[in-house]
Amino acid sequence: MIQPLKPRLEVCPSPAALHLYDVSSSIVVIIDVLRATSTICTALFNGADRVIPVASVEECIRIGHEMHAITAGERDGQIAAGLQYGNSPYEYPREFVEGKTLVLTTTNGTRLLDMASGAAQIITGSFPNLSQVCNYLIQQAQPVILGCAAWKDRINLEDMLFAGAVINRIKESFEVNCDAALIAETLYLEAQHDLFSALKKAVHYQRLARYGLEKDIRYCLTPDIAPSLPFLKDKALINKSTDC
Ligand code: MLT
Repeated sequence: MIQPLKPRLEVCPSPAALHLYDVSSSIVVIIDVLRATSTICTALFNGADRVIPVASVEECIRIGHEMHAITAGERDGQIAAGLQYGNSPYEYPREFVEGKTLVLTTTNGTRLLDMASGAAQIITGSFPNLSQVCNYLIQQAQPVILGCAAWKDRINLEDMLFAGAVINRIKESFEVNCDAALIAETLYLEAQHDLFSALKKAVHYQRLARYGLEKDIRYCLTPDIAPSLPFLKDKALINKSTDC
């Protein structure tokens, strides 16, 4: 019996390489483990109505003002001037965020969300919603690009580790013919038993640690602690997990 073709799964390790991939026929998973996509799934898991990702601080302030929404985000890991809140998942507990709209701008994560806007579908992924992402991709059975937000176009370890975790879980359902995917899974297999230690030499780990944010890092490396499925619809991320 002829086996049906499996959809392809690829890893784009940096936004600078995104033009090499066919986003228009793919589900693009935007990955920014430290911390944008971990914070987005946390806010939605805790009942936020939606998260509106925007590229610039000016846009964040303008849209936040127009919509009477929370303005949030960072530049270089620290709360950006003019915004009300930062990019820590701990800033968005249910008692604060439930029923609210968050307008968010970050150094890399929201930039890649903007760049991938021609994709067939966009969801966001991070360890706190790992199983939600994997279950959705298997259920959809469409081509997938795991898009790492990286750091100002430079490849980072944490996003590649998450890409590797996804590949490790779902590769049997896809055709994986991509060296970046091989690298990601190899890194993940090496690090899986102690992600926190494996990340200690990573540049953004050290940047966040200098700001005293190890607690954020530990949270962002905890699988399935905020099981929502952020899905981009009409320029806003909403929680699609209830449909899966
Ligand atoms: C980013 O978008 O680069 C990050 O989420 C930075 C951070 O807040 O740690």
